Amino acid sequence: MDFKTKLKNYATYTDMKLDFYLPALENDQKSIYEAMRYSLLCGGKRIRPVLAYSSAELLGLSKDDVAPFACAIEMIHTYSLIHDDLPAMDDDDYRRGRPSCHKQFGEAQAILAGDALLTKAFELSGIGAIELANKMPEQAARGAAIIRALAIAAGSEGMVGGQVIDLEGEEKELSAETHETLCALKTGALLTIPVAISVIYAGMLHTPVGDMLIRYAQALGLAFQIKDDILDVEGDAALLGKATGMDEKCNKTTFVSLYGLDGAKARLKKLTDEALGICADLTEIFPERKDACSFLRELAIFLLERNH
Ligand code: IPE
Ligand code: IPE
Ligand code: MG
Ligand code: MG
Ligand code: MG
Repeated sequence: MDFKTKLKNYATYTDMKLDFYLPALENDQKSIYEAMRYSLLCGGKRIRPVLAYSSAELLGLSKDDVAPFACAIEMIHTYSLIHDDLPAMDDDDYRRGRPSCHKQFGEAQAILAGDALLTKAFELSGIGAIELANKMPEQAARGAAIIRALAIAAGSEGMVGGQVIDLEGEEKELSAETHETLCALKTGALLTIPVAISVIYAGMLHTPVGDMLIRYAQALGLAFQIKDDILDVEGDAALLGKATGMDEKCNKTTFVSLYGLDGAKARLKKLTDEALGICADLTEIFPERKDACSFLRELAIFLLERNH
């Protein structure tokens, strides 16, 4: 199967699972399901679940094994976008090709939809951990380890921590080092955790292969934010589904403000090359999983070249 077809299949599978895990309930609080589903099920590249499935398959797991965790990560990511767009944060009116959650439902409902997606994510992680324990009773602790890792990636030592530094960076010039930490946390953490979850599930944490996969995801995570910063300057808002020029407007410290467009592109290329080098090493280690390795390789190139 070619890369584009496989990528699309993973995204379609994710959409189907998300719809299943978050049905539109018809109860007294049904308006919250409307807001949650509005932001969750309206597109999005699903890159984080794709990273979970593809790394799982490389390690001999199935995408079903990690699906509850992959969907949990997509819910946390969506909550981060809803809150990121609030007037108190980046004040963005468009997201995923339509009015952002607070524009559609009001600020209070958007805050609650974010809160509810975050908590739903941990309900799903619980489901994933129970399924893991049923499959491998002697390895039940791996489920708890995954939930712990997910909480760290989402919280003050992960995405939330990065958002804090990001907002503080509107008031003052951040050093290159602090800015790097910002990106590793606000974006890198939620792009690394899908791979880390597969590694933990497979019992490969702190092994050479586990470390290689996590380094691959860390490189992609940083590269992803660089590309996001570049697209904010020279991307097409219609393709992106969100407004451009917002970083300059909010006075953000970004890879582009620090290094210029050319400098940011050079760094993006270097990080992609690093990820590709790891893929080449993985192909040597897993000749029998050549397809899974080549998917990870093509994913790195796709993310380098993406225009949305
Ligand atoms: C946007 O993430 C926010 C960043 C972390 C840069 P994505 O570019 O993955 O957004 P969706 O999920 O495709 O909408
Ligand atoms: C967002 O970074 C990272 C999150 C944790 C949501 P940005 O603020 O650059 O993301 P966009 O450009 O609004 O998607
Ligand atoms: Mg932001
Ligand atoms: Mg933003
Ligand atoms: Mg951005």
